[in-house]
Amino acid sequence: MKRIIRGATLELVQGDITLQEVDAIVNAANSRLAGGGGVDGAIHRRGGPSIMEETRQKYPDGCPTGSAVISGAGQLKAKYVIHAVGPVWRGGQQQEAELLASAYRRSLQLAVEHQCRSVAFPALSTGAYGYPMDQAARIALQTVYAFLAEHGRPELVRFVLFDDRAYRQFAEAMEELIPEHAPNQG
Ligand code: APR
Repeated sequence: MKRIIRGATLELVQGDITLQEVDAIVNAANSRLAGGGGVDGAIHRRGGPSIMEETRQKYPDGCPTGSAVISGAGQLKAKYVIHAVGPVWRGGQQQEAELLASAYRRSLQLAVEHQCRSVAFPALSTGAYGYPMDQAARIALQTVYAFLAEHGRPELVRFVLFDDRAYRQFAEAMEELIPEHAPNQG
């Protein structure tokens, strides 16, 4: 499923983010950039040790929640990995929505600054960090939509949803928030 926004494509697919052939893959990292399970584990396993070596060297203090940093992508097909730190879900009153939106925005800015034409995102914060998928989907799509409506790039932003349920929640949110003939389309 996809939408065209100011000439850029926003699309949803179901799959494994580590296999995407895009310029930048976004990692669901933690603020220490210490590695973990989920997307983080899969990226470091498939990409090899050079990614962690680089982030340790360049970002010894890690990365605050709601922000992102960039590194090379080791053996992955991508050129870059963008390590985005989403919030841990604590019930919704701890600025989780703002922090999640800002992790997406910062990732998109980094992608544009590094001339990435295509970027793949996982559903940040919806695994170990416990963010409810329906709410996370809305924030993710709204934030990317607003960024593309303003900047018209990256040319391709792809959400890679791991399972059928995540895909359906994102698809529902897309139908609702970005109608096929929204003003910025085309
Ligand atoms: N491709 C795409 N999506 C995936 C993949 C994959 N290979 N593996 C897991 N997912 C999905 C999960 O199902 C979930 O919906 O990505 C979403 C994010 O889950 P997590 O990777 O657990 O990320 P997050 O909730 O942001 O938690 C981050 O987990 O691994 C640690 O170091 C990481 O501490 C950090 C925390």
